Amino acid sequence: MDNRLTLRDRPVDVHTASEPGRQTPGVSAPPELPDIVRRALDVSRSQGFVSATRHETGRLLATLAAMRRGTLAELGTGCGVGAAWLSSGADSQVRIVTAEVDPRLADLARDVFTDDQRVEVYAGDWTALEQFAPFSLLFVDVREVKRGSVDVIADLMEPGGVVVLDDFTPSTQWPPTYHGRVDEMRERWLTDERFTAVDVMVTDDASVVLAARR
Ligand SMILES: C[S@@+](CC[C@H](N)C(=O)[O-])C[C@H]1O[C@@H](n2cnc3c(N)ncnc32)[C@H](O)[C@@H]1O
Repeated sequence: MDNRLTLRDRPVDVHTASEPGRQTPGVSAPPELPDIVRRALDVSRSQGFVSATRHETGRLLATLAAMRRGTLAELGTGCGVGAAWLSSGADSQVRIVTAEVDPRLADLARDVFTDDQRVEVYAGDWTALEQFAPFSLLFVDVREVKRGSVDVIADLMEPGGVVVLDDFTPSTQWPPTYHGRVDEMRERWLTDERFTAVDVMVTDDASVVLAARR
């Protein structure tokens, strides 16, 4: 009897590691990262910046970016990981603008994109990006904006434009809950009449809200 396993039969660990030492429960993804993402991650790590966009959200950002044209934006650059994912998927003709309130981080992120003319990093409050609206895709990665700025954000989006909000904890209930309380921020985004929205799990412990402007 031939006991060799075919590729199809081969037992696989569904908790595939995306890189040595890191687990991505419930998600199948190739372990390689785009060079630009790796560069931004290296800067993040060198700075001890722990809030960088995780790979699962990043892959979603890259995929959405590949579907969009026009102006893509990010609020809260950090060291550039989210913008790197956006740039890795985006068409050559798009513009990508991102704002970081910490000028030191903004400088570091700007260095990451010196070879990519599509990406512009602004040092300052996120509202500095309003001049570039309407947005085709907007990654909101500043907590206060997620919490309180649905009206402002709705006015910045082009029809069909997609807002991405990450770092939610998966919830199977309605309304969504977080730590035993109603997650009013998520509920607000999922029910606002100006958007068609969905809460998408990107891994066992994280979900992302996608809100498309009507
Ligand atoms: C979650 S981190 C962003 C991570 C980043 N998107 C990445 O992928 O690495 C949030 C960032 O928003 C920045 N921030 C906070 N308030 C801001 C504001 N009002 N305008 C612009 N950036 C802000 C913080 O300094 C921090 O770097």
